[in-house]
Amino acid sequence: MSADLILDVDDLHKHFAVRDVWKRKVGSLRAVDGVSFAVNRGEILGIVGESGCGKSTLGKTLMGIQQATSGRVVFEGNDIAGLKPHQSRRYRQHLQYCYQDPGASLDPRWTIRSSLHEPLVVHTELGEAERETRVREILRAVGLPETHLDLYPHEISGGQQRRVGLARILTLKPSVVILDEPTSGLDVSVQATILNLFLDLQRAFGLTYLFISHDLSVVRLVCHRVAVMYLGRIVEIGDTEAIFETPRHPYTQSLLAAIPRIGGPRVTDHFSLEGEPPSPINLPTGCRFRTRCPKAAPVCAEQDPALRPDWPGQQAACLLAT
Ligand SMILES: Nc1ncnc2c1ncn2[C@@H]1O[C@H](COP(=O)(O)OP(=O)(O)O)[C@@H](O)[C@H]1O
Ligand SMILES: [Mg+2]
Repeated sequence: MSADLILDVDDLHKHFAVRDVWKRKVGSLRAVDGVSFAVNRGEILGIVGESGCGKSTLGKTLMGIQQATSGRVVFEGNDIAGLKPHQSRRYRQHLQYCYQDPGASLDPRWTIRSSLHEPLVVHTELGEAERETRVREILRAVGLPETHLDLYPHEISGGQQRRVGLARILTLKPSVVILDEPTSGLDVSVQATILNLFLDLQRAFGLTYLFISHDLSVVRLVCHRVAVMYLGRIVEIGDTEAIFETPRHPYTQSLLAAIPRIGGPRVTDHFSLEGEPPSPINLPTGCRFRTRCPKAAPVCAEQDPALRPDWPGQQAACLLAT
């Protein structure tokens, strides 16, 4: 393992059983279907793709919120995919999952102080005074005054609740944070504030982010690298610049063509994507994108393409990509 490799995922699968009304298993839904990638310390890796392609399931499986069907997840040098929750707890403290609105999960009956102390009481041996020091440090880092510690969630704004939710995640000093659609549903101006906060926190605490989003413009702004998912697989991965300037996979090309460009012609002449992806219960043979791909050839029905490392800083799972 190289010195700054922090997360190494190998052939990860998460399948859900599909049952009939008698609860008999009649099939399986391949939400995550053979995903491999590696992340370096301090990196921001974007994970993009249409709704239902498996982004959240990937995040939750890495976290152990969902148990992996198979595969390996090496986090800070330890394989955590096969561990039971009580065995993996001490590793997973440093791996945190942040829901779309982390403020929504605050307990309305607890002061902000109690909410921020609680993870430290549950997961660490810190005494009260040490906890209070840590809580104040993190509160400052998310841009809130210490006077907020004695307030209840209903006494602060939604934006401030979001910051407290984020602070709660950071009290455990994670090294990797999985941000799941962290800016969706926000006004553009608030989005910018929250994105800047994420970037400030990343620098202040040396964090690594997996940045899950379907908003490609946001991903382009903040991510160092981008992984594009389609039906449970990564179909293209690479440096942000390469993915946006020279997308190799027809699916990536069509996603980029769908980004609205205000006040100017489209930069690409790529086709736009039509229809819905096939069901992850009944995947096409060969390449899973071929049923929507304008470039599909007969060979695409026969071979399931792996990621090809054929371009500098970029890999694509397409037999025909050049
Ligand atoms: N707990 C679950 N049980 C069964 N199917 C699920 C479950 N969670 C997600 N799925 C299915 O897995 C696929 C991927 O879902 P999800 O990971 O939420 O996608 P995304 O976050 O990219 O929108 C979808 O087809 C979804 O219906
Ligand atoms: Mg999701």
